[in-house]
Amino acid sequence: MPVTLSASILSADFARLAEQIQEAENGGVDWIHVDVMDGHFVPTITMGPFIVKTCRRITKLPLDVHLMVEKPEKHLGDFANAGATNISVHVETCPHLYHTLQVIRSLGCHPGVVINPGTPAASISSVLHLVDLVLVMTVNPGASGQEFLPDVMPKVKEVSTMLAAQRASALIEVDGGITSSTLPLAYEAGARVFVSASAIFRDANGINHGIQSLRSSVKG
Ligand code: DX5
Ligand code: ZN
Repeated sequence: MPVTLSASILSADFARLAEQIQEAENGGVDWIHVDVMDGHFVPTITMGPFIVKTCRRITKLPLDVHLMVEKPEKHLGDFANAGATNISVHVETCPHLYHTLQVIRSLGCHPGVVINPGTPAASISSVLHLVDLVLVMTVNPGASGQEFLPDVMPKVKEVSTMLAAQRASALIEVDGGITSSTLPLAYEAGARVFVSASAIFRDANGINHGIQSLRSSVKG
């Protein structure tokens, strides 16, 4: 199965956002990943629907929106209207997870469920049939440029086994510390969608080089 690369604009140069997204698109990324942080669920505040709308004007690529916010259900309509393709919510923020995922689907977006490094795979077993993406965090959410946590790999395998057992077709996505060295480990564990901010937008040899390094790290 092919590798899907989702380029997180968190490490992009926002003074040149359009150029940087176009460069990533020309380099062959599949999705643009938007990290929404509220200063409550995670300490940092980043961006909201306005930036999703801006990205929608810049590119036709799918917009992969990752909500690291408390009460995400209050904002789903705004992100869908802004042009989000995928909307992923953390299980840790959703007391009514089943309903929240149904709402995302009803808004015409692909629902995803996210689990933090300390959250067990079992916490999402009852919603696997509702989602198109299971996003397993490979760092603690909140910032780009952190070290990949290899301890999470057995959990990626566990999610993969759970999906197969339920004959569910969701893709496993990993996010945090993905480089050409760590991507193959996550691929081996069953991940097929790879989010990267630093390894794409901060590659010393440029965005295109970063993308090709990730792409060539496995034969997907
Ligand atoms: C972390 C974010 C990630 C982050 C990835 O909270 O969800 O998407 O931007 O950054 P890198 O690829 O630099 O680890
Ligand atoms: Zn993310």
